[in-house]
Amino acid sequence: MSDDSSARIVRAIKDWLATAAPGARLPTTRELTARHGASPVTVQKALRALTGQGLIEARPGVGTFVPASRVNRPGDRGWQIAALGPMDSPVDGTLRMAPNDVVALHSGYPDRTLLPERLVRAALTRAARGDISRTPPAGHPELQAWFAAQLGTAAAADVVITPGSQSGLTSIFRALKSRPLLIESPTYWGAILAARRAGAELVPIATGPNGPDPDQVARAFAETGARAFYVQPHFANPTGAHWDAGRILEIAQAHGAFLIEDDWAHDFGIDADANPIAARDDTGHVIYLRSLTKSVSPALRVGAVIARGPVRDRILADRTVETLYVSGVLQSAALDVVTQPGWQAHLRSLRRELRARRDLMLDSLRTHAPDVEVTAVPAGGLHLWLRLPDGTDVERVVRACEDEGVLVAGGTMWFPSEPSGPYVRLTYSGPDPSAFPGAVRTLGKAISQRI
Ligand SMILES: Cc1ncc(COP(=O)(O)O)c(C=O)c1O
Repeated sequence: MSDDSSARIVRAIKDWLATAAPGARLPTTRELTARHGASPVTVQKALRALTGQGLIEARPGVGTFVPASRVNRPGDRGWQIAALGPMDSPVDGTLRMAPNDVVALHSGYPDRTLLPERLVRAALTRAARGDISRTPPAGHPELQAWFAAQLGTAAAADVVITPGSQSGLTSIFRALKSRPLLIESPTYWGAILAARRAGAELVPIATGPNGPDPDQVARAFAETGARAFYVQPHFANPTGAHWDAGRILEIAQAHGAFLIEDDWAHDFGIDADANPIAARDDTGHVIYLRSLTKSVSPALRVGAVIARGPVRDRILADRTVETLYVSGVLQSAALDVVTQPGWQAHLRSLRRELRARRDLMLDSLRTHAPDVEVTAVPAGGLHLWLRLPDGTDVERVVRACEDEGVLVAGGTMWFPSEPSGPYVRLTYSGPDPSAFPGAVRTLGKAISQRI
């Protein structure tokens, strides 16, 4: 049985369904077998896939039919607008899946060639043979212990396993209640949206390659009464900034506030290693986030929040109400990957690969888009943060690139308030680095309005 031929049959039947009348009968399995030159098993597989999608109905002993009434008829759903009220900010386009024929420099996720695919597949096979019962709400104890040991100073009991760090952010912001929240500007759009949804009033603090200005942070704590500051001191998304958070932690401590340290790119150091401030805090002021989504596999979605004291219990309570617990199979697989000897070897080769890709993109920018300012050469992470010449219409540049088959991310959504200039973010971790020079040439042309 071949996956390709079953997919081919699925496509052919979908074409047929596009014009088929409701209730029409599909050709028999025997006819489909002959028509597509495929085995009955392959045809059955295609029919099962279409049934699963609700596109056809099997009536045992009678045949297979187009459903009499299609559920997806467009209808008047305007009433929902009145029922739902105003909308929150829309989720950003960096999650868009890119078709194969475009160069994807917009996404936050590494290409599959940068993932430890062999380790992940072997780990999933072993996990499928292991325990399939429920795991404790705080997570698989051995995985908790692994995350704690990574930080050095934490105990396994401080760790709450999450399905990725986005859900960790949501729970942290909810646990802190809707107080004013200091937040770097620019910063990760998902943190901005999660904090807003939790009802936080955002207080933007300008940040740059050396992090936020400590005096401004102290003033903002004093003036707003905020009790938390969300920061990314290591290879920040989007700026790539890498800075020591020691002084900022002292300021948070002096104001009885939390520092939320998002170490999303821990495994993506290039010229430096992430050195979490959480490892130097024994006062419970740092709430630390780490994720394996991007470094192990986006298909596993395993992350952790590490916190001490009542805030940890509140975060766990929020997680438990939200999801009860994280799939034990996925946790076991993630733990298996990061405890294999091959994991360290993978991280070493990933570092080399990211360096080569980052440098190729920087070279391409120097050659093909000299008007662009690279705000800082990132010592790690997955992205370059580019300032375009003043007055550039970012949305026009993004559209012009897209028309030429190059996806780039306009910078506006990384700002919690007005953007401080025209920016775009380019990822150097997407597929096919050989396409970088051509794609950057397209960006250069779009900026200088030659397309
Ligand atoms: C800074 C930062 N924090 C958190 C996340 C969410 O990570 P996860 O995929 O583990 O939910 C991202 C994803 O891009 C991110 O960039």
